[in-house]
Amino acid sequence: MNLIGKLRCLFSSGGAAVSIEQAALRDAHALAQLHRASFHRGWDPIEFEQLLSDRSVLAHRLRKGRNIIGFIVSRMAADEAEILSVAIVAGQRGRGLSRDLVRTHLGYLAGHGIKTVFLEVEENNRPARALYDRAGFRVVGRRERYYKGDDGTELNAIVMRRDLS
Ligand SMILES: CC(C)(COP(=O)(O)OP(=O)(O)OC[C@H]1O[C@@H](n2cnc3c(N)ncnc32)[C@H](O)[C@@H]1OP(=O)(O)O)[C@@H](O)C(=O)NCCC(=O)NCCS
Repeated sequence: MNLIGKLRCLFSSGGAAVSIEQAALRDAHALAQLHRASFHRGWDPIEFEQLLSDRSVLAHRLRKGRNIIGFIVSRMAADEAEILSVAIVAGQRGRGLSRDLVRTHLGYLAGHGIKTVFLEVEENNRPARALYDRAGFRVVGRRERYYKGDDGTELNAIVMRRDLS
């Protein structure tokens, strides 16, 4: 555990302390479980283990007590990064927790020398669109029929960008 990461952000939500910490390899199962509950195509623990042991990947977890209630994962290449996934456990959504998570994560990316951050989001994912708009991301592209929904419907993706410098 990176001590600086552990102490980076501590705040309270509904009375209980919530902390944002650098995610570790041992979090792979918990993150996979949260990912599976949040997305149509869940990533398995092995995929998370690969990500968490990759030096070009930056991952933060949101912890409340002993529970991991959110995460964000990015891949870095030169001075650019792509946010690969972000999720908050269903019972904790709508409380602004992802805003803090994204803000903290972007600060760390900047600390790694990242100048530009990209992401793809499903066009009709209103909470995620609102989150990224609020975090300063701007739409720079659109990918037609990029995702498949639960019922097989083809969904469009929006590409967003945020400059950190
Ligand atoms: C997207 C997600 C991470 C947002 O996390 P969250 O902690 O609930 O988000 P916040 O409480 O910070 O709210 C973010 C914004 O969405 C808005 N919002 C929340 N729920 C909403 C809803 N059902 N419809 C529309 N907007 C909504 C909030 O009002 C807020 O906007 P504001 O800053 O303008 O007030 C969370 O909904 C989630 O895990 N979703 C499933 C996984 C996912 O879709 N990840 C993003 C993939 S790119």
